[in-house]
Amino acid sequence: KETVKIGLLGFGTVGYGVYEILKNNQEKYLHLTQTKLEVSKILVHDTKAFPEAVEAGMPITDNFKEIIEDESIEIVVEVMGTIETARGFIVAALTNGKHVVTANKDLLAVYGDELYELAEKNGRDLYFEASVAGGIPILRALNESYIGDNLQEVLGIVNGTTNFMLTKMQEESYSYEEALRLAQELGFAESDPTGDVEGLDAARKMVILTKLAFGQSIRLDELDTKGISNILLEDFELAQQLGYTIKLIGSAKVEEGKLAVEVAPMLVPLDHPLSHVKNENNAVYVTGEAVGETMMYGPGAGRMPTANSVVADVLQIAKNIKINQTGKGLPVINSAVQLGTANV
Ligand code: NDP
Ligand code: HSE
Repeated sequence: KETVKIGLLGFGTVGYGVYEILKNNQEKYLHLTQTKLEVSKILVHDTKAFPEAVEAGMPITDNFKEIIEDESIEIVVEVMGTIETARGFIVAALTNGKHVVTANKDLLAVYGDELYELAEKNGRDLYFEASVAGGIPILRALNESYIGDNLQEVLGIVNGTTNFMLTKMQEESYSYEEALRLAQELGFAESDPTGDVEGLDAARKMVILTKLAFGQSIRLDELDTKGISNILLEDFELAQQLGYTIKLIGSAKVEEGKLAVEVAPMLVPLDHPLSHVKNENNAVYVTGEAVGETMMYGPGAGRMPTANSVVADVLQIAKNIKINQTGKGLPVINSAVQLGTANV
């Protein structure tokens, strides 16, 4: 096939970023996947709320049927959020032969196992890199680079809002309320920030990480979860005097053959790499029997970093589709298609 068509569910912060990246890199992606990638439908609640998109001739619709019943659409990208509606749409997509990319950690923390199994049963790809730590490719690392190792511990700063708040409180003496307000204004927090500050968003991400790192399914209610709402400014001073900082850490570790998973504000030694993760950044610190100690670091939220992870998943699926069609490999090295001849 010359073109792989994509149905985009949701045209908000992340959805718009995905559309832009796919549009601006067509030539490069044609080279990488040997296929043209086309967003052929964009699902929104109400097309009247997007007059500029209509004017620009973007293919927006408020009818999911137009996507699910369109046999030419091979990839559905779910970036609309919600749990039950998104679950229904993704189940419909997978059972109708479509591959799926989602950024929806709320959904995967609850229905992940059902959806992973459904994808496998239907022989479809289900990728969800953006659901944990936004722009950091930690899921791909766990599922590929660390797959052969026996991991012992995964420690994550996986919520950008709380890390931003703790940084502002510690370094600029912001009050809790001021720090939260700024995190909301900058768009890191969820529309209801309770899940961020009470640790639930981090807990959801730990459910997903634990599945990939240790192959274990845990339920959200099995996970001991504490947030940052009781942290006081004086706690930072005391911690600092003792040689620590305070971070909201998601921890999954093997202890005496058992897996212990929790989310809580923890004292992190000032010489530990996680203590240097500031503002809205995220990091995941992985310890494995063979690999030793490693850390991946970067933006945990925001339009373009998150959209980049979504697009990487789309490209992987497009490559898989092409390989299945032709039985041939595709370029493994990114060539400088946009740069012209290198002057070396
Ligand atoms: P937004 O709220 O900005 O965008 C979601 C869009 O989807 C909104 O325009 C919303 O419309 C629309 N939508 C929701 N339900 C439906 C529906 N049933 N039919 C049509 N449209 C619908 O959210 P984000 O883009 O920030 O987040 C998208 C997903 O990505 C979420 O799952 C989020 O958790 C995840 N994510 C986001 C990150 C970020 O930094 N923003 C980082 C990592 C993951 P309306 O506003 O009218 O409800
Ligand atoms: N509210 C989330 C955070 C967005 O602060 O990390 C990214 O998942």
